[in-house]
Amino acid sequence: MPTAPNATGRELEGLGTPALLLDEARMMANIARLKSRLERLKVRFRPHLKTAKSVEIARRMMTSPEGPATVSTLKEAEEFARAGVRDLLYAVGIAPQKLARVTALRAQGVDVQVVLDSTEQAEAVAGASRGSGQAIPAFIEIDCDGHRSGVIPEDPRLIEIGRILHDGGAELRGVMTHAGGSYDASDPAGIEAAAAHERDAVVACAQALRAAGLPCPVVSVGSTPTAHFARDLTGVTEMRAGVFVFFDMTMVKLGVCRMDDVALSVLTTVIGHQTGQRALIVDAGWMALSRDHDETPGAKTHGYGHVCNLQGVPYPDLIVTHTNQEHGVVSASPGSRARSPELPIGTRLRILPHHACATAAQHERYHLLNTDNRVVAELPRISGW
Ligand SMILES: Cc1ncc(COP(=O)(O)O)c(C=O)c1O
Repeated sequence: MPTAPNATGRELEGLGTPALLLDEARMMANIARLKSRLERLKVRFRPHLKTAKSVEIARRMMTSPEGPATVSTLKEAEEFARAGVRDLLYAVGIAPQKLARVTALRAQGVDVQVVLDSTEQAEAVAGASRGSGQAIPAFIEIDCDGHRSGVIPEDPRLIEIGRILHDGGAELRGVMTHAGGSYDASDPAGIEAAAAHERDAVVACAQALRAAGLPCPVVSVGSTPTAHFARDLTGVTEMRAGVFVFFDMTMVKLGVCRMDDVALSVLTTVIGHQTGQRALIVDAGWMALSRDHDETPGAKTHGYGHVCNLQGVPYPDLIVTHTNQEHGVVSASPGSRARSPELPIGTRLRILPHHACATAAQHERYHLLNTDNRVVAELPRISGW
């Protein structure tokens, strides 16, 4: 990824809006912070590439050009494999119809691993392993906090699924979980507890499989909050995290980072005023920001994102309160004494997103910024499934 000297690059003023901006120095600091933390905790890092969906950024996140890494679609797996990544966990429950794409990648020498939590999926993976003559590596997903999919640790199906894979011709590579419930924690102690719970649940399942005579070499956990707050990962072998690379207002609110760590922003232009409500209208609606927003009632909400000036300096309490497809309404957060600044039509602003993965997904490319806020490269994003 070329990083031009600060004197070069395009001015932000010349960019069409809305546009997705990426502050390279902040991103690199975010990556370095988590990598050094995981080195101290002695777990391998398998970054989740679903937030960035960019080959150039993936190379910055991974510990080697060949991986390991995590993906959320087979399209990502195919694109990253084309770019030389050789160790990929596809971390969304496998649909039997997708196994042909998995075996095609494996036949090219890419170690694609799948995730499942049912006997039906285990039968399908075992069948595809026998049919293709290659043992497909599979992880049993564990539900550590009731927020989504996975087998709960006490469920006898854990061993049943393990046996179907192991005896049926697939490879039981391990267990994995994602502590999505950590996003609901109300303070750092809550995230720490979620991290301990995430570890305990998955380590208990690994022990149960081993006690039943089944292999379980890999024990995989991961979410950005728990990756930053875990104190002890004994029994865990690898960590996955994705949104840490950019951070967003959700992570600011959770106390995982500060506002000046957020590397992603949407460049927008003031296109009107709502005089009565003292609100500004900007050309970043939900097409540019996504529909994902902070639903917390009252003054604590950051709405669709926090508003900054063109240099990226946040205005106190100024947020995007409403969106239509191509309009955003910018005003002071509810209950705040701050007033919206009086900015003329044509003023450029930057919005720190509520949810970086969702906002980035609305755009085709990143505009990479150097420390002088000049655009030094454009990085395409992978889209589709
Ligand atoms: C299976 C899995 N692992 C890891 C992650 C990464 O979590 P985060 O986005 O909090 O970094 C996710 C995110 O959704 C996930 O679904």
